[in-house]
Amino acid sequence: MELRTDRKTNVGRIVEVTGAEFVAQLISEDDGFVPEMVFDKYKVRVGQVGSYMIVEQAGYRLLTMVESMWQEQGVADEAVRMLRMSPLGELDQDGEFTRGVTHYPTTGADLHVVTADALTRLFASFNEADYVIGKLSSFEAIDVYLDASIFFGRHVAILGQSGSGKSWSVTSLIQSALKVMPNAHMILLDLHGEYGMRKTDFSSHTVFPKHIVRCLDTDDLEIPYWLLSFAELVDLLIDMDDEDASVQIAFLRTTVLNLKIEANTHLELGHITVDTPLFFSLDDLCKKFKVANEQTASFGKETTALYGRFDQLLVKLLSRMNDTRYDFLLRPSKRTSSESLPELMRDFVGLGDPGAKITVIDLSSVPPDLHGTVTSQIGRLAFEFNFWNPRCREFPLFLICEEAHSYITREGGVNDENRQTRKAMERIAKQGRKYGVGLCVVSQRPHELSETVLSQCSSFVCLRISNPDDQAYVRELVPDAARGMLDALPSLAQGEAITVGEAVPLPLRVQITMPDPPPNSSNIDYAGEWLNGPDEISVEDIVDRWRRQER
Ligand SMILES: Nc1ncnc2c1ncn2[C@@H]1O[C@H](COP(=O)(O)OP(=O)(O)OP(=O)(O)O)[C@@H](O)[C@H]1O
Ligand SMILES: [Mg+2]
Repeated sequence: MELRTDRKTNVGRIVEVTGAEFVAQLISEDDGFVPEMVFDKYKVRVGQVGSYMIVEQAGYRLLTMVESMWQEQGVADEAVRMLRMSPLGELDQDGEFTRGVTHYPTTGADLHVVTADALTRLFASFNEADYVIGKLSSFEAIDVYLDASIFFGRHVAILGQSGSGKSWSVTSLIQSALKVMPNAHMILLDLHGEYGMRKTDFSSHTVFPKHIVRCLDTDDLEIPYWLLSFAELVDLLIDMDDEDASVQIAFLRTTVLNLKIEANTHLELGHITVDTPLFFSLDDLCKKFKVANEQTASFGKETTALYGRFDQLLVKLLSRMNDTRYDFLLRPSKRTSSESLPELMRDFVGLGDPGAKITVIDLSSVPPDLHGTVTSQIGRLAFEFNFWNPRCREFPLFLICEEAHSYITREGGVNDENRQTRKAMERIAKQGRKYGVGLCVVSQRPHELSETVLSQCSSFVCLRISNPDDQAYVRELVPDAARGMLDALPSLAQGEAITVGEAVPLPLRVQITMPDPPPNSSNIDYAGEWLNGPDEISVEDIVDRWRRQER
């Protein structure tokens, strides 16, 4: 079917052309201008900011987006309507769209409104997987499709201020994906227990169908200390300001390596490094440090080179081992041998028992100072899983990081303590595409996020952002063609997003489908609770939970 541009759709002509924008004059009311036109039952508001227009000349067609509209006074004092547009790309005879402009129009070129029918055709090459995420804001009847392989495979950033609807959008995007791709493999890092069920109140709330989701907290998952890379162990145990730090690092390296070799001779692995993911006993490590720290020579008359050099480290290690918050890491109950690693990996990607398509890892009970340690392991596990998986192309994974700014921090930023997490996530951002590991960062503070990760994202879902600095930052991030559209960032409705990047044919303003059910992140009903809320609350229980560190 041919794309329709005819006398009915013609609403004006081009009067000015530059490399970056076109200006058009709309036809006068005498010549038939109407503010609202109807095509195939669908209304089109002519010249609405953010809407699409076609510029046609000598058989070439360009798709443009309206940036602004204004009125001037004509010679006979009549109103002359003007439009400023930015070009998006070219359309061929069948309405197929390609980005970029090679044939610029000259003044006098015809300007046409885009009908619903033409827009539907634009999505034709993107709806192979039938992945619908919502409706076009300017045309509520039109479904918006994403190219699922690009969206999930080449990293996504979901940005927006607090309360703009990020968590709801994430839920909706996953729910829609699971409908058409039931064999998906996703891992969702949930920092506030919004997506999974909470253990403490016995309600089993989950936003995804029960038979395909598995909610794990860190106690269930148990990421053991012996999985940490050597650099992470150093970060965990050694204080770099200690004057003995280099001695401690050297001793730690040899001791861990020897312990790993001793504990795993039965595996007959051959070459083992200090980073090989193998079990070693933390108690043994502790003992070796104690012995070295107290070792004397000549029957106690002389101290050795290592004598007393591990005081600080031992204090730190023992206090961490006695801190119950670290139990999932330092005192694992299930992951106590190298043989337990496959099971951990199975649980992690949803191949454990019960199986799952989406694994929600609930970090709400983990104290914030441990987020870095846990998230770096999760990033590393996701990458290593498919890096070593010979069938990685058949088993692509997608890792979603909620509140990513709090652990995938920008280098040298204000709270830059998470070097290891940044490294792990940046590795996925840079190399994940080749091994089938996709990354999604969700954040209200794009400024504080790792620049490397953001620059590798090829799709952006931008929800409402009112802060001018954040707006400016996001504008820098996204591809050129969408910049004009981003002016709308502060005026987006709840759950409305500007979607740009390779997974969409053109920059789109989308009303994302309502999640059903929504995540556990509803606004608190202050007015209602302050009117009829409880008079008494168990403070003893609060104190008890605080002491036990159990939410
Ligand atoms: N599509 C939508 N339609 C209507 N209301 C919505 C929609 N999306 C979100 N909301 C409302 O906005 C509130 C906040 O949404 P959400 O928790 O997703 O925000 P957020 O961006 O994740 O915020 P934060 O950064 O604080 O986590 C929700 O409780 C809900 O009431
Ligand atoms: Mg949220």
